[in-house]
Amino acid sequence: MKLLIKQGKIVSHRARRTETADILVDQERIVRIGKKIAARDVQQVIDAQGLPVFPGFVDMHTHLREPGYEYKETIQSGCRAAAAGGFTSVCCMPNTNPPLDNQAAVEFVVRRARECGGVNVFPIGAITRGRLGKELSEIGDLKKSGVVGLSDDGSAVVNAELLRRAMEYASMFDLPILCHCEDPDLAAGGVMHEGKISTVLGLKGIPSIAESIIVARDIALAAYTGARVHICHVSCADSVDRIRRAKRQGVAVTAECCPHHFTLTDEAVSGYDTATKVNPPLRTRQDVEAIKKGLRDGTIDCIATDHAPHAAVEKDAEYANAPFGIIGLETAFALVISELVNQDVLTLAQVVEKMAWRPSEILRLGRGSISEGAPADLTIVDPLQEWTIGREHLFSKSANTPFIGRKVRGKVLYTVANGMPVFAAAAG
Ligand code: DOR
Ligand code: ZN
Repeated sequence: MKLLIKQGKIVSHRARRTETADILVDQERIVRIGKKIAARDVQQVIDAQGLPVFPGFVDMHTHLREPGYEYKETIQSGCRAAAAGGFTSVCCMPNTNPPLDNQAAVEFVVRRARECGGVNVFPIGAITRGRLGKELSEIGDLKKSGVVGLSDDGSAVVNAELLRRAMEYASMFDLPILCHCEDPDLAAGGVMHEGKISTVLGLKGIPSIAESIIVARDIALAAYTGARVHICHVSCADSVDRIRRAKRQGVAVTAECCPHHFTLTDEAVSGYDTATKVNPPLRTRQDVEAIKKGLRDGTIDCIATDHAPHAAVEKDAEYANAPFGIIGLETAFALVISELVNQDVLTLAQVVEKMAWRPSEILRLGRGSISEGAPADLTIVDPLQEWTIGREHLFSKSANTPFIGRKVRGKVLYTVANGMPVFAAAAG
């Protein structure tokens, strides 16, 4: 179909200013960008007068749960949640059942995603067979079946020798390794950040060092092997410092952080709401500030959701027994505007960089910018609109978010993926 977006303010990761223009989309691509384009043979016109138009957001860390945990999320419901959040591409983590550690499983996900026909789904393959940390997956096969990165997300690869080999193989196939950094012994039994509040609440803590010690090790391995290493969901100041120093020394390390980690602290756990239970855990004010500083100075390259749906019956448990995870696709953009842009941490151009351009670049997706010939992945937003996050805004099968009832600014109005409108906000 042909689609014309009129008079939007095009935001790019490069330009300081936005450029007001019409964007003509034909089939899957942007075919023209111009001051005024006539609406000839066009099936749909979207009036974007005065509104920012972003390259569609790319979430490099999503849990779609299919195959195996369809009661939490399916590829279809996850893609709808993504579209509602302005994401036109999601990269799905391999901790499914069976895990994405072989060609058949990855091909299944690719096929299902295509049948759903919404946003782009790029699978991440497991580093080790069964995500058990014992032996490497067939990395060449995984690459052939279409994975864009490798991760045992949910757990770290504890065996450093195995991770070294994984990095060496991954380099041969030009795949980044996405590291979930958590020392299982230091974290054992913990359910929230270890600190004053965990003591008061009587909950077992996960110390920051459980993360940063593995960040340090993985950076050392990245430097040694020369592999592309990406640190997932950075949660604490010490990790940010280590990544900053490594980058200065020229190590090929990149990093992401999640909206909940720059928005909430461990104080949010005080009511024992299991929606706040996430791994890595919500940390201190100091950690939140360090993450914001890391985002601003480029230490943290990307913002990813770690969208981790869990069923109500699972989260409806004692804090210690509930599963870790927060959904994030539908709320990420509003939290970025409210907590970062409106607090002068990031500009809109930097939002494009962190939510579209860099993730796409790191995973070689060829997306994340608005230009003639590029895939027509576009997100039109109203950065000023105030709204209160409610259950009705969630398209995920699950609702495990601590942000219900929160007043935010920044609303996704339209999402276009591969030239097809995949989301339009309800009026009002
Ligand atoms: O909170 C989390 N949930 N952290 C992870 O690393 C895994 C994820 C999940 O799969 O539920
Ligand atoms: Zn993780």
